[in-house]
Amino acid sequence: SEIRPIPTPRGAPLVGNTLQIPSDGPVQYFAELGRQYPGGIYRLHIAGREVVFVYDPDLVAEVCDETRFGKPIDPPLSHVRDFAGAGLFTARDDEDVWGEAHRILMPAFSQRSMKAYFPQMMEIAQELIGKWSRREGQTVTVADDMTRLTLDTIALSGFGHRFHSFQREELDPFLQAMLHALTVSMGRTQQLPLITKLKRGEDRSYRDSIRQMQKLVDSVIEERRQGVGTGERDLLSLMLDAADPVTGRQLDDANIRDQTLTFLIAGHETTSGLLSFALYSLLRHPHVLAQAYAEVDRLLPGDTVPDYETIMKLDVIPRVLDETLRLWSPIAAIGKAPLEDTVIGGRYQLKKGQKAILLLELLHNHPKAWERADEFDIDRWLPENKAKHHPHAYKPFGNGERACIGRQFALTEARLALALILQNFALSDPSDYQMRVKETLTSKPSGFDIQVRRRRAHE
Ligand code: HEM
Repeated sequence: SEIRPIPTPRGAPLVGNTLQIPSDGPVQYFAELGRQYPGGIYRLHIAGREVVFVYDPDLVAEVCDETRFGKPIDPPLSHVRDFAGAGLFTARDDEDVWGEAHRILMPAFSQRSMKAYFPQMMEIAQELIGKWSRREGQTVTVADDMTRLTLDTIALSGFGHRFHSFQREELDPFLQAMLHALTVSMGRTQQLPLITKLKRGEDRSYRDSIRQMQKLVDSVIEERRQGVGTGERDLLSLMLDAADPVTGRQLDDANIRDQTLTFLIAGHETTSGLLSFALYSLLRHPHVLAQAYAEVDRLLPGDTVPDYETIMKLDVIPRVLDETLRLWSPIAAIGKAPLEDTVIGGRYQLKKGQKAILLLELLHNHPKAWERADEFDIDRWLPENKAKHHPHAYKPFGNGERACIGRQFALTEARLALALILQNFALSDPSDYQMRVKETLTSKPSGFDIQVRRRRAHE
């Protein structure tokens, strides 16, 4: 076979393509660029590094082969490590603590555990319903309330901590610190290290935000050590008490702090985005919305309080979530790197450690894998159709061992939230929102306001 160069747009001397990348929407820019390279692969020179972008499903299949590729911790994740440390999300494949924490925490994500978290999920979801009920006929900012919901849910279910986000007008200071830290760490990905060094003031406020998040985390851990909420087998109790079945080791205090912060961030940002995009998709597709209402009215007539078993019987809502994750993946890109020098597609050479970024928007829309790719069609996710999908054209939760540990948690929480919202409210979008995606580590609709009205029993 014949080795070919990986196509690339022309860059400037020294800085390469760095200055072409908008800092407020890098992944949207990468996707836009990708549309000019139908071969499903291209490369860019960013802040001194050569980065390859991959979105052809067959090339992605190779990159998802875990015998050949691992998860690299380079920018932006090496910056996120400034605050997430060696937590699961930012640990290197070869760090022992990844396997130890993974094995210690897996039981907290079993189907049985989801049932155990259900009362906490319900408590917070009902706070959302309460808030929206008091806003009868008014508008609500979707992404903000979804963030209140998902942050409070992971904090209560995983750590027994209450943020009380629905009782306050402002978002919790933890979120502002997190947003700032994420923004700086993302920005540094596009910065030459020299520039980063020169920005002293930014670095000071970055360190402040990190300290603020750590203070909250320390108080959450301290609450538990003081006996608050003990006896529950949640994430925090596993971390404090359980030993890794393989090595017999327990997590040390520094790692428990890293994991706690990791879960407070990873456990809410993405699910908030998913729910916001799902509500957007439902409002844009009234026939799907009608199907979802019909399902909720059949399974949860009147003001039936949903139990775990009923939520597991939902069929339309989970398919809405699957299709939303295809078209609006909250994590828009994931990084992989070859363990040894290798060739993909029989023609593109990748060096050991060379970063290959999977662009999920383009993968999830690729004509090789998806018919009428830009159509929101929940029937793609009927069992008989699902079986026919390209095996590597859908990666909203990542791939392999380093895939999302919280997938079931997110989907259970999101099913419940959508079911309760639809059971209680008629939704409308009087200002005809035009999608604007805001990127941090994850993507969310920005400025998406909707109007909520309580449904009456006869509606
Ligand atoms: C990893 C997506 C919800 C915790 C990941 C990855 C993706 C992802 C794509 C892999 C990232 C990579 O390869 O670099 C999502 C989406 C969610 C969601 C789309 C919601 C719709 C959650 C929740 C939790 C969570 C609710 C926790 C309760 C984690 C953790 C990792 C991870 C700890 C790192 C796993 C490891 O490497 O061992 N997630 N996630 N996620 N997610 Fe999620």
